[in-house]
Amino acid sequence: MRTVWWEPGAVCLIDQTKLPREQETVRCTTVAEVAAAIRGMVVRGAPAIGVTAAYGMALAALNSRATERAGLLDDLALAKTTLDAARPTAVNLSWATERMLRMARAFRSGEPVREVAAKLLEEAHAIHDEDERVCRAIGDHGAALLDHGSRVLTHCNAGGLATTGYGTALAPIRTAHTQGKKPHVLVDETRPFLQGSRLTAWELQQAGVQQTLITDSMAGHFMQRGEVDCIIVGADRVVANGDIANKIGTYSLAVLARAHGIPFYVAAPTSTIDMCLESGGDIVIEQRDGDEVTQLAGQSLAPAGVHAAHPAFDVTPHNFITAIITERGIIEPPFDKELRRVMQEA
Ligand code: MRU
Repeated sequence: MRTVWWEPGAVCLIDQTKLPREQETVRCTTVAEVAAAIRGMVVRGAPAIGVTAAYGMALAALNSRATERAGLLDDLALAKTTLDAARPTAVNLSWATERMLRMARAFRSGEPVREVAAKLLEEAHAIHDEDERVCRAIGDHGAALLDHGSRVLTHCNAGGLATTGYGTALAPIRTAHTQGKKPHVLVDETRPFLQGSRLTAWELQQAGVQQTLITDSMAGHFMQRGEVDCIIVGADRVVANGDIANKIGTYSLAVLARAHGIPFYVAAPTSTIDMCLESGGDIVIEQRDGDEVTQLAGQSLAPAGVHAAHPAFDVTPHNFITAIITERGIIEPPFDKELRRVMQEA
């Protein structure tokens, strides 16, 4: 399954707003189109928007009319501002655009702009390939936490569609499935955007993993009945003290998991770790349009004119998290010390 890929002169995306009904491709040939696709959730999920933004930066360089280094750097800085503003919570977006800009700055002034642009495209491909490797490593580390027949609850979609094909929270499940452990996944539908029912359920079905779809409000009921062995979610940002931001509803799951003594795991690549922010309160939470709450597939679900809130993410404090599964291994508390150690190892 491809989420994001490059064709000459275009960033291509599977349109996740149309899944699972239709499998349509969106081709973006300008930075503005890439930013609009990220903002409009054509592509979503922290690692996937990071890779898409990296290709967006390559596109900016290839489309640039600049004839020298300074002009190219101006165009790239502008592209970075446009792309970073598309969605504020997932750090992978600015992580990727910063990496691209840093690379462009490292070229000497005499280097032809065309050649710099070609090398930036190579860097975007490298970011893409790394994501695939990183997710598989998360799968290997995380699968060791699952027993035969483990019942795992997940929220939102932190699968192949949220990355370049393998996923973060779904990676341990996929790997355990390949190892013959027969995991069973409880999939939260994830109101209001339904990433669980539309995307995770579709992916797991294709992978042949056993699953049961539930509404978000059923999660506590299944935990209370002893039908959940662990929870694995992804993250949009992990900060220095171990607090995480993830899809709205994650915090409630973590609190419920604590009440029922259920391990609560976060699976995330180190590109999602932001050591510049101290605690979760510093994370900017994206506020999306209330229409995404009051409407579904063009149908109104609420009285006309009613005000609806739509924070797209929430913060789970580190003391509710059992461990963070990264490509470099499983990080356990104390998270501040352990995150610093792991990030310094790079
Ligand atoms: O609003 P979305 O669909 O982009 O939110 C996605 C999530 O919250 C994911 O759990 C997170 O980005 C991790 S994806 C591997």
